[in-house]
Amino acid sequence: MCGIFGAISSEDVKKDLIEGLSKLEYRGYDSAGLSLITSASKIKRIRCTGKVKELKKLLLKSKSKGKCGIAHTRWATHGIPNLKNSHPHNSGPFSIVHNGIIENSEELKSSLLKKGYKFTSDTDSEVIAHLLTSCIKKNKDLLGTILSALDKLKGSFALAIIYDKYPDNIIVASNGSPLLIGISKNATYVASDIHALVSKTKKYIPLEDNELAIVSRGNVILYNKKGRKISRPPLVTKQIDKTTSKRGFKHYMQKEIFEQKDIISRVIKDRLGTKTILPNIFGPKSDVMLKSIKHVHFVACGTSYNASLIAKYWIEELSDIMCTAEIASEYRYRTINIPSDTLFVAISQSGETADTIYSLKKAKTSNYKAILSICNVPESTITRLSDYSYLMQAGVEISVASTKAFTSQLIALLLLSTILSRSSGKYSIEAEIVKQINSLPKILDKTFKLENDMKTMAKQFKNKHHTLFLGRGASYPIALEAALKLKEISYIHAEGYAAGELKHGPLALVDKDMPVVGLMPDNNLVNQVLSNLSEVKARHGLVYIFTNKKMKLKRNDKTKIIKMPACGHYIAPLVYVIPMQLLSYHVAIFKKTNIDQPRNLAKSVTVE
Ligand code: M6R
Repeated sequence: MCGIFGAISSEDVKKDLIEGLSKLEYRGYDSAGLSLITSASKIKRIRCTGKVKELKKLLLKSKSKGKCGIAHTRWATHGIPNLKNSHPHNSGPFSIVHNGIIENSEELKSSLLKKGYKFTSDTDSEVIAHLLTSCIKKNKDLLGTILSALDKLKGSFALAIIYDKYPDNIIVASNGSPLLIGISKNATYVASDIHALVSKTKKYIPLEDNELAIVSRGNVILYNKKGRKISRPPLVTKQIDKTTSKRGFKHYMQKEIFEQKDIISRVIKDRLGTKTILPNIFGPKSDVMLKSIKHVHFVACGTSYNASLIAKYWIEELSDIMCTAEIASEYRYRTINIPSDTLFVAISQSGETADTIYSLKKAKTSNYKAILSICNVPESTITRLSDYSYLMQAGVEISVASTKAFTSQLIALLLLSTILSRSSGKYSIEAEIVKQINSLPKILDKTFKLENDMKTMAKQFKNKHHTLFLGRGASYPIALEAALKLKEISYIHAEGYAAGELKHGPLALVDKDMPVVGLMPDNNLVNQVLSNLSEVKARHGLVYIFTNKKMKLKRNDKTKIIKMPACGHYIAPLVYVIPMQLLSYHVAIFKKTNIDQPRNLAKSVTVE
């Protein structure tokens, strides 16, 4: 993953580098570092383990200055998070920062070791620095050196390089990992994403795969991998600097959980009429395209994948369209059969998830009717590559644990399912679904009142080692999402299961120390879920039932019932996920974990 930021300016760039890097910390926060070219044309490197704020403290103590520099925030892939593995990596006259994975690093390393190069880190990235030094000895010019080094690399990379003989240049290259060049009057910047650039400039050029550029102040020369110059006009971003604060909440996750009602109200205002969905909400002429769809293939990762699983239930219930939902890291490598008139849908909060991007690229060269993306970040790679796109309007999601993006994806997917149902002549359901979505803000108000119950429940969970979440139908993906949230931020092992699967194996785990949560909206599956939960009770499991069905417990029954507000059938997943988010949040509070930046994770997963 990792975030890259670089700057060349007429002034010292240290402040720019720290500002840019802070906006990229969602891509990794294992270590941070930067290299500057000083006025004496020397490379000065400053690195630390931990976060950008630690690097900032080191810089305050340092007297080093430079008008050209590169910086990096790391998510460890090769080599543990420590100082020696922090970027930049130096070799001779070069300093480099890398995002991606060099697949042939071991092979390159052994040949460089034979040539006498000394490695000081366990990273795959350090080979790039030594490779450059080795190539500059054979090549006369910088461009030739870069091209021959890049030619030897296998894998994915976004690279920013400084070279002490060219103190006014940053060299950048990209293959499979994003890198953008931002151009302003007095400075040029390079960054892993547009957020890190918008406060500096609106004009930018995204590097495409197998391209490189030599960047100087106010100038960019683009090359293809053969070293031929390419010319491409800069794009102008419509994004504004969205620096967000916690607005009085203790954590971003808490703020983002509580924003969900307002986001849904905004979608209602912008996308719904009184009884119908407004035309073409999935992009110009999308309604006509969607009319012809006979199959849907969803591809996504993590929470976004869980959202797609719910859409599968909705679409097949509401129409005669066949639907699959698949994890992107599986989809990208397997053989796919694509029936005619299939819609490919990529779902991603960030729009930068590597596996989803690769899947989308594969889909683009396959026989799909159209490529649609549901994303939260405008101008992201996934949005740029799609034929049609829907922006979730959830606002920037900072917390690594996705909450508001999930419910925003669900709303988009419920709208998509409803539009797709039109081709099966099920127009009558549209008014009902619009009505149910309209009822959501009030129902969510009632749902948020469960926070105190979730605090009490969290206290009972905080010392547990394992937890099961069970659901049937569209509540099954909510069980998966609940388990993902809990393990992600509280580090308690949690699994989500289709309730009917329990007796096929996981029931063996249940004992008096195992909390088992049943998600049971009042629908045609209640009796089945209750039977599965009785199986748990018979093994002394601690059962918690979330339901809006009236239930009476027998005397001595230790089951805890959490009374949910009544809600329509289609919107139940959006309602039932809220207490799951609050539960994880409060367990994590008790466990004093780093809620917004949990260990080992990053917000945007830009490596495969
Ligand atoms: O940005 P994306 O939606 O593509 O990200 C996918 C997953 O990495 C993400 O949902 C992840 O699972 C979250 N941290 C879960 O809370």
